[in-house]
This record gives sequence, C-alpha cells and structure tokens, in this order.
Amino acid sequence: MRSGTTGVFKCAPVRSGVSLPRFTQSPSRNSDSEVGTSVVSFQLAGLPRAFRPAAGPETITCRCQFHLDASLQKFSMSDQEKNQSIIEELTRAYWMELETVLNYLANSVNLDGVRAEEIKKSLAADVTEELNHASQLANRIKTIDGVIPGSEHFVASQKTLQPPADTTDVVTVIKGVIDAEEAAIAQYEKIIRLCDGFDFVSQDLCITLLADEQQHRREFVGFLKEYEKN
Ligand SMILES: [Fe+2]
Ligand SMILES: [Fe+2]
Repeated sequence: MRSGTTGVFKCAPVRSGVSLPRFTQSPSRNSDSEVGTSVVSFQLAGLPRAFRPAAGPETITCRCQFHLDASLQKFSMSDQEKNQSIIEELTRAYWMELETVLNYLANSVNLDGVRAEEIKKSLAADVTEELNHASQLANRIKTIDGVIPGSEHFVASQKTLQPPADTTDVVTVIKGVIDAEEAAIAQYEKIIRLCDGFDFVSQDLCITLLADEQQHRREFVGFLKEYEKN
C-alpha cells in the first residue's frame, strides 16, 4: 500500500473577516511531512454555518498550519489504483505523441517557400522520433497491464499546431511546435512525479522522453529567434 497524508488544518484566514476553527480539510494536501503550511481555498458553502459570513466571496484563501491528526493520518492508494493512474497518464502521453505525429507530418508537407525548408526537414525527422515515443509508451502501457485504446477514444487538443491557411506562415508553425513540446514536457514531468518510488521503469522511460522533448523545444526556440528577426 502507498500512503499519503491528510490531516487537520488550523487556519488563519489571510483575506477575510471570517475566523476559522481547526478545520478538517482532506485530502487537499498530499505530503509525507507531518507539519507545515499550506495555502488552501475553502468553499464557504462547505463551512459550518457559524463560520460563514452573511455576505462576501464564495471562497476564501487561508494560509493554514498543517498538523497530522492520528485519526486522519492516512489515506491510501492501493498499488492497483496507483498503477491505473500511471496507465491513464501514459495513455494521455501516447495520444499527445500521436497527435504530434499527425500535425508535424501535415506541416512538414504543407509549408511552402525557401524559408520553410529547414523547418520542414526538422519536422519530418521529428515525425519518426515522436512515433517512436508513442510506440515505447504503448509497449510500456501493455507491460503494466493496460490496454492501448483505438482511435475512437482519440480527442484532439493541439489547437495552435493546426496547419495555417497561409502555407508560408512558418512562424505560426514554429510557435505551434513549441506549444506541443511544452505540453509534452509538462506531461512527462507529471508522470515522472507520479511514478516516484513506485514504478521506476515508467519513470525512467519518461525521463528519457522528457530529455528528447526538451531538445526539440530548444531547437524550435532557436528557429523562432531567427525567423522572427526577418
Ligand atoms: Fe515525443
Ligand atoms: Fe517532441
């Protein structure tokens, strides 16, 4: 069993005339430390009537001292639940890679003009690399007992990477690529944290993929510098 912590917050509102008692808020904090401070937003509707102001904002933000309460100390996520959440995040990353393949491929062919040549070459090379990422993710999902979904489950999200109407608009494509790489970086960082201390192989895979995405982003940030000058 993996455990997180939850506990009792002693709250000192920073932005309200409301005075809060020791108040149970769980499990908005997930930490191994037993004491600390945390900024917590409370929905006033969830507070006892005595602590609700007659009028005012619907939420208040408090800086809270956090103490573990023995009775509330543990919330547990079973190994199975943890594994399932890793499968879900790996699957999200898998779809992101495949959407990137679609859009890099389209942009690597659509663009026109002398200025576009380097970008087209780079995108074409990345198509192979991103497809390889998707393939590695699929294999990992299978290894940890997940099922790789079919296209019916695909939901597109890369708005800024859609091929521009003006096929010489290289800058828009470069910016879209940077957005896609940043989204991939954020997703791999999320999985790396999720896997910590639990699934070292998925974590290792995502660290490798993260390094690749950082390199891609850097390359296109360099392109943007140059292309925005002209
Ligand atoms: Fe990738
Ligand atoms: Fe990438």
